Amino acid sequence: MWKKIKQWLDVRFGLDAILETQVRAQILDYRIPKNTNIFYTLGFLTVVAFCIQAFTGIILLTCYVPHPDYAFTSVQDIMTKVPYGWLFREMHSVGSNLLITIVLLHMITVFLMGNYRRPRELTWLGGGLAFIIIMIFGYSGHLLPWNQMSYWSTTVVTSMPTAIPVIGDTIAHILKGGDHITGVTLSRFFALHIAILPAIFVTLIGIHLFLIYRTGISATPFGIADKEERPQSEYKRKGHPDGYPYYPTFFKKQMYMMMAYLAVMFFIITFLPTLYSPHDANIAADPFKTPHDIRPAWYLLAQYQFLKIIPNKFLGIALQMILVFVFLIWPFLDGKEEKNLMKRPVLRGVFIVLLAAWVVLLYWGRN
Ligand code: HEM
Ligand code: HEM
Repeated sequence: MWKKIKQWLDVRFGLDAILETQVRAQILDYRIPKNTNIFYTLGFLTVVAFCIQAFTGIILLTCYVPHPDYAFTSVQDIMTKVPYGWLFREMHSVGSNLLITIVLLHMITVFLMGNYRRPRELTWLGGGLAFIIIMIFGYSGHLLPWNQMSYWSTTVVTSMPTAIPVIGDTIAHILKGGDHITGVTLSRFFALHIAILPAIFVTLIGIHLFLIYRTGISATPFGIADKEERPQSEYKRKGHPDGYPYYPTFFKKQMYMMMAYLAVMFFIITFLPTLYSPHDANIAADPFKTPHDIRPAWYLLAQYQFLKIIPNKFLGIALQMILVFVFLIWPFLDGKEEKNLMKRPVLRGVFIVLLAAWVVLLYWGRN
C-alpha cells in the first residue's frame, strides 16, 4: 500500500529523488560530534515545548472568549464543562512554565560551554531575542484568564514604564490602550499572544536553526579544549566526519529527553495541578478590589523585586535594560579565546554572582 502511494507521489513530484538526496544528506549523513552531552538536546526540547504550546493554545482558542465579560467564565467552562478542556489548559499553563525553564537551562548550558563564541555570535543573538519573546508570551498569556491576579499583576507591570522620563507615559498608554486595564488591553494582549508573537518567534527560531545548521554544531562540552580551527576571514562549516550519525544515535537521545519532558509535565498536572496557579486564580478580575499580595509569574518575579527595592524606578529599569543589552551582545564583547569557564575565574565569578542574585530576588519576591 505504502509502496503504491510512494510510487504515485514519485511520478508527480520526484519524491524518491528528494528522499535520496535531501533526507540522506540532511538527516542520515548529518554527523554529530562524538563528545556531545545531554545538554545538546535542550534546544530540540525547546522546539518541542513550543510546539506543545502552539498545539494546546490553538485548541484553547476554540473555546476561549477574549472579552472582559466572558474571558473568565470561558476559562472556567474550559476547566469544568468542555470535554478534556482541563487537560489542554493544564498542559498550556504548566507547559509555559516548563518551556521557560528549559530555555533558561539551554541558555545557561550554552553559556557555560562557551558555545556562543565566534562564529556563533548571531546564533546567540537570535536565541536571546527569541527568549525575550518567550517571556512576553508568558506575560501576555497571564492576562488572558482575566482573574484577580492576572488583572492586578498586569496593572502593576504595565505602569512600570511610567518611571521612564518623557516617553514613559506614552509607552504605558500604548500597552494598556488607555489609562486602565480594560477590554482594549485584553484585545491587545490577545492579538500579541496568538498572532504577533508566534510570527516573530517562528522567524527568530528559523534564523537560529538556519545559523546552527550553517555553522555546524560545536564540539566543546565542559572542560574539553576547543579544536575548531576556523579561518578569520572566510566561511567554513564545522562538519564532524569522525562523529556519529544524527539518525539514529542523537535522534534517540532527543526522543528520550522528549519523553522525560512529557513525564515531568504530566506528573505536575496529575499530582501538583496548582503548582503554578497564582493566588486568586479562581476569582474573576475586579477593578475595584485590589488584592493585598500582587505578584507576577515566577520568571518575572526577580526583575519585579529588583524594581521594588531600588528607590529610583527609572534607575531600576535602566539597569535592567543595560543588563539585557549586555546579555544580547555578550559574544561580541567577549574577546577571550578560552572557552572553558573553569579557566576563566572572573567570568565564572560574575556568572555565579548574577545567578545567585537572581535566585535570592526570586525567593525574596515570593515572600
Ligand atoms: C527560545 C527558544 C530557543 C530554541 C527553540 C533554540 C533551539 C536551539 C537548537 C535546536 C540548537 C541546536 C542544538 C543544541 O545545542 O541544543 C540550539 C543551539 C544554540 N542555541 Fe538555542 N534555542 C533557543 C534559545 C536560545 C537562547 C536564549 C540562546 C542564548 C541566548 C541560544 C543560543 C544557542 C547557541 C549559541 C547555540 C549553538 C550551540 C552549539 O553550536 O553548540 N538559544 N538552539
Ligand atoms: C503559538 C501559539 C499560542 C496560542 C495560540 C496560545 C493561546 C492561548 C490562549 C487562547 C490562552 C487563553 C486560555 C487560558 O487562559 O487558559 C492562553 C493562555 C496562556 N498562554 Fe498561550 N498560546 C500560545 C503560545 C504560548 C506560549 C509559547 C506561552 C509561553 C510562555 C504561552 C503562555 C500562556 C500562559 C501563561 C497563559 C495563561 C494560562 C492560564 O493560567 O490560564 N502561550 N494562550
